Amino acid sequence: MPRVLITSALPYINGIKHLGNLVGSMLPADVHARYLRQRGHDVLFICATDEHGTPAELAAAEAGLPVAEYCAQQHEVQAQLAQQFGLSFDHFGRSSSPQNAEFTRHMAERLRDNGLIEERVSDQVYSLDDERFLPDRYIIGTCPVCGYERARGDQCENCTSLLEPTRLINPRSAISGSTRLEVRPTRHLYIRQSVMADRIREFIDSHGDWPVLVTSIARNWLNVGLEDRSITRDLSWGVPVGWPGLENKVFYVWFDAPIEYIGATKEWADLDPEHRDWRSWWYETKDVRYVQFMGKDNVPFHAINFPATIIGTGEPWKLVDYIKAFNWLTYYGGKYSTSEHRGVFMNDAVDVLPADYWRYALLAAAPESDDADFTWESFALTVNKDLAGILGNFVTRTLKLTQSRFGAVVPEGGEPGDEERALYLGVDEALQSFVSEMEALRFRPAAFALRTLWTQGNMYLDRTAPWSETDVARVACILRTAINLARLHAVVSHSFIPFAAERLAADLGLRDDERAWPGSAADELQRLEPGREFRVGEPLFPRIGDRSSLGVWIGQMEERFGGPASKARAG
Ligand code: 2FM
Ligand code: ZN
Repeated sequence: MPRVLITSALPYINGIKHLGNLVGSMLPADVHARYLRQRGHDVLFICATDEHGTPAELAAAEAGLPVAEYCAQQHEVQAQLAQQFGLSFDHFGRSSSPQNAEFTRHMAERLRDNGLIEERVSDQVYSLDDERFLPDRYIIGTCPVCGYERARGDQCENCTSLLEPTRLINPRSAISGSTRLEVRPTRHLYIRQSVMADRIREFIDSHGDWPVLVTSIARNWLNVGLEDRSITRDLSWGVPVGWPGLENKVFYVWFDAPIEYIGATKEWADLDPEHRDWRSWWYETKDVRYVQFMGKDNVPFHAINFPATIIGTGEPWKLVDYIKAFNWLTYYGGKYSTSEHRGVFMNDAVDVLPADYWRYALLAAAPESDDADFTWESFALTVNKDLAGILGNFVTRTLKLTQSRFGAVVPEGGEPGDEERALYLGVDEALQSFVSEMEALRFRPAAFALRTLWTQGNMYLDRTAPWSETDVARVACILRTAINLARLHAVVSHSFIPFAAERLAADLGLRDDERAWPGSAADELQRLEPGREFRVGEPLFPRIGDRSSLGVWIGQMEERFGGPASKARAG
């Protein structure tokens, strides 16, 4: 059984992530990690905050904090939220760690030794008042194509023309507004990807099993022609290059960020060096399968640039085996916007409802084969139908009815018959389909299979109607079977809804061996021995509103986070 290394794209440090970021990387990565652990794999699940780059610097300045302090604070905020959402990282690191700096410099030096780094001089805009070079997007001015007055130096947001800062009319600094700008020559390091194009194409071609979304993006880049890429910047915040003549340069954030997957693994190992070995996960490995999760905008960096770094070192670093990418989650048909407070962010979400509601509803409508849209109405519908109506209702009905007829114990009596055998068939089939979707990393169909599994319980109770059954032994058999099915739900649902699954498992008093991945339904559904006590807990998933108050609730949410009316504004 291979060990499995799982990484989620590193969330940028500036700002709390929204539901699209969550469902597009960290959440499915967590579900995969939890599922594989349950199936007995040795899993290492790594994530970190992506802390370098100009946006982090500017956000710190806006918060009135030194950038290192700002990052430390925001890292804690994101780590807290990750925990609240049940994201079971083995380590949540920081790309500003000394470990990452060391690996980043190591990789760059190996590339240099192998003749894959080139120094070039280029002209860049320098702001006299800000006393720094400005990245293209931090220069604004009038678009030469459409006349839009707030066009950015890299692209005009209004007409989408690709621009150069020198083409802007009346250019000024986006940081200070200063117009005292001049063009100065500056030296930068480039990684010579152009000479590695064949090797990268071979690498992509060797992974015919990757999702089309991933290979098509990667091949597009290769077909356009792989260009050399600059990997340094004139900033003070970042991993210092430290080479002679490049004293004031740092590595570009997109160079050091993926290396932090390794850096964070070393951070993790350094916390307990006697028992943890980062190298066995990353260097000369034979038994590790490496799976990466990310949004589709990240694919070029992970399918092409990071592999180019790794391959270019000439050293046996672990390359990714499988890339799982997601499309966009929109909010009422438009973009999420931090500045306009449009959409739901992770802190808001857990303020409104417990994490499991979000975990399930987001994955059930994940932007997997296409973009997907979030509305409060569809969210509430999924919660009320699937979580409250199917799973929650089945568990409550089963435990309450048992309690009222037999006390809170697994009842004794009766023998399974045709109805039970029909149930076993349905359960086996749904479970098999859940497993095959999970193995294929298809999360939306997996959520559907999970729901199908939950439905078996309700259909069974409706068919057998224990509430109107007069044969006591028969009632005992039905409810015993149903309690066992609730146990199976607790086990199988763990990766999607870990908190509720744990509560149910605790209410049923499950021992470790009773939480193991289930075998055939015929065995599993007669497993808890009669006489065992259980506890009737609070409903797992209270409904959102009733028929009359649901509309009011949706209205309140739209009021608070933006709704259909805000779409026009955000575009
Ligand atoms: O797009 C993003 O959110 C980046 N912060 C992802 C970085 S992933 C990895 F390469 F570090
Ligand atoms: Zn324009």
